[in-house]
Amino acid sequence: MRRVFRQFPIGRWAALAAAALGPAAARATAADTEIQAPVLAAAAEVPLQRPEIYHPGWIDLNKNGVEDPYEDPAVPVAARIEDLLARMSLAEKIGQLEQQRMDETSARTDARLLAAGGLGSYLGAAPGPGRRNGLQREAVEDSRLGIPLIFGFDTIHGLRTVFPIPLGLAASWDPDLLRRTEAFAAAESAAAGIDWVFAPMVDVARDPRWGRIAEGFGEDPFLASRMAAAAVLGFQGPDYGQADRVAACLKHFVGYGAAEGGRDYDTTEIGLPTLRNIYLPPYRAGVAAGAATVMSAFNLLNGIPASGNRFTLTDVLRGEWGFRGFVVSDWNSVIELTHHGYTADKAGAGAAALRAGVDMEMVSDCYRTQFPTLLAQHRISPAQVDEAVRRVLRVKFTKGLFNRPYTAPQVIDPAVGRALAREAAARACVLLKNSGERLPLHLSGGKVALIGPLGDDAGDLLGCWPGLGRREDVVTLHQGLAAALPHSEVAAAKGCDLEGGSDAGFAAAVALAQSADTVILAVGEPALYSGENDFRSHLGLPGRQAELCARIFALGKPVVTVLFAGRPLAVPELLDQSAAVLLAWHPGVQGGAALADLLTGAASPSGRITATFPRTVGQVPLYYNHQNTGRPMREYRDGPRTPLLPFGFGLTYTRFQYSPTQVSLPATAGAPVTATAEVTNTGAAAGTEVVQLYIREFACSFGARPVRELRGWQRVTLAPGEKRTIAFALGAPELGDWTPAGSWVAEPGSYEVVIAPDAAQGQPVPFTWN
Ligand code: NOJ
Repeated sequence: MRRVFRQFPIGRWAALAAAALGPAAARATAADTEIQAPVLAAAAEVPLQRPEIYHPGWIDLNKNGVEDPYEDPAVPVAARIEDLLARMSLAEKIGQLEQQRMDETSARTDARLLAAGGLGSYLGAAPGPGRRNGLQREAVEDSRLGIPLIFGFDTIHGLRTVFPIPLGLAASWDPDLLRRTEAFAAAESAAAGIDWVFAPMVDVARDPRWGRIAEGFGEDPFLASRMAAAAVLGFQGPDYGQADRVAACLKHFVGYGAAEGGRDYDTTEIGLPTLRNIYLPPYRAGVAAGAATVMSAFNLLNGIPASGNRFTLTDVLRGEWGFRGFVVSDWNSVIELTHHGYTADKAGAGAAALRAGVDMEMVSDCYRTQFPTLLAQHRISPAQVDEAVRRVLRVKFTKGLFNRPYTAPQVIDPAVGRALAREAAARACVLLKNSGERLPLHLSGGKVALIGPLGDDAGDLLGCWPGLGRREDVVTLHQGLAAALPHSEVAAAKGCDLEGGSDAGFAAAVALAQSADTVILAVGEPALYSGENDFRSHLGLPGRQAELCARIFALGKPVVTVLFAGRPLAVPELLDQSAAVLLAWHPGVQGGAALADLLTGAASPSGRITATFPRTVGQVPLYYNHQNTGRPMREYRDGPRTPLLPFGFGLTYTRFQYSPTQVSLPATAGAPVTATAEVTNTGAAAGTEVVQLYIREFACSFGARPVRELRGWQRVTLAPGEKRTIAFALGAPELGDWTPAGSWVAEPGSYEVVIAPDAAQGQPVPFTWN
């Protein structure tokens, strides 16, 4: 069966977009938005065999005069899948289960494979619509059945418009903000030829040594669940078949964040109560929000590799939660079943992964090379293969790829992205200290010294997984401050590098600080200290930065520190000796502008940390929702056991006072309890408080519960002097827990509740729930 589509040469691309979008868009198209510029350039650069670009809109698959049911969009998806499946050869089925990385040569070398229907998906190397459409053309037009490819990419916190790292976005405690950043990232990705993003990462992480803590939402399952659902909604919208949406991928299922020693890929041992209550909930929330796909993780989970784990991938994910999308393995993690020593060889790895519930294999080729033999030996069944193919096809049909296989031109206003990135970066920052109300700076002149290696750094502000972010798009802190303080002289001196041993710049930095009216330190971690396979055994400032800070503090001036990090850092001296500390994370393309907004008071800090900051690496793991011991807990022989900063912590430019928490019991058994507290803005500025609700359950019949568990929060903005009563309803959804067998059970009995500004404050109040 051969199809003929309407064809347009590259030169007609912009005209086509203009015609489709009207005169205003025509002007925008002609002007080339920032997104379209690279997109069109990519189309021109890649040496496609046949460099036509195809009509980006609806494709009629009925050009040969015979409309097969699977080609007919009016036929229900389930019937289209079955019709197509019945026509597929074994090789075509196996092809659908294979994902290969796209490299520079793909466009030239894969034509035969694609024409044979031998590949289901590409990942990586954001293709750009020209290149993508060329490859897609090989798959759709030249293959027997015309099954489209699905293109996946790691859009983690933005594509070209890079937002703060996810750990920073989580610090906003604002799921709707995350939804909006992911929606923008989806539109940029879709415009660049991406159908499917490998995000959100919803792995709970309790260990800041693990570099991938940057990619997730922190240590709390309740907050991470809210964020997971918001991210899925942002990427996929109400229907990921829309042209400006992408399919989401919850990763890395499951337990990946519990890697021993914080070493990436390392073993995890997680008991069932903890798996159920800490690591699984964000996935469940993402599945409930409709996530199209899930990625299986690299790690061993209780002796069984996550990518070969039938309990998690099938019993829980599909059996208990009803997940109907497909599971893709993480990169090579199928063949790694053998590296773990779990399977003996490639065939064993392929069989174990399929049987466990991995539908598509990323990069390694156990499925492609081994399935024919495994089937002949009855080690896997045709029904198992069919079911995996069915799941992949379902996502492709739902994404609309059969009838809209080519990327459509889209007009994306980069100014909208910049404004959102600035808002998100300001909302992600957390004010960690502000003694003497040093911030905001009220400057109408004078000299500002910006000291430290991150003062005028662009690349590190993008963070790990920067997508297609470009350093030339980044507003550095120096640039942001200079723009915000037109009447001041803002001068920067690095002092030292982010890493490495030279102190050659110390003298100049100290001299600059000495001569200035305002001193700001810009220090922290390089972007690539976090992310995949980047982990730390120390949690302080790398290189000579701590010494540089000490030299600046020794001047005796009140120093404002801006701290850039991809994880919680153990920096007690920095907190101690700075007058004010603003945590910037890796804030993205508008980082410098947002920081200037906060430092000058044009914006007001409202972020709260979602992972505990330890005092020293020796305290790790350290998290707020720990279990109690049977005996009073001592301090360490050589230091306190309390954290440097607790979960939920963050200051504002005002102060909030909490009344004691009050509980009112319901008249009827089983109805919700109401917990209230009055929160008053006692300072002189307006501010946003994140009012947090923690519970504790006693005598739970299926095991002891943690000392505190977050079960609600509200963001409240109050004017100076304003007070508000904040109320939370506590019923079965808030008071229950997951049993080891996977049911949510809320038991009548003894509880405590506290409404507090963070996980370490407030006096819990006991109550009995009947
Ligand atoms: C490996 C990483 O673990 C995963 O997060 C990523 O999505 C894939 N590679 C694809 O790049």
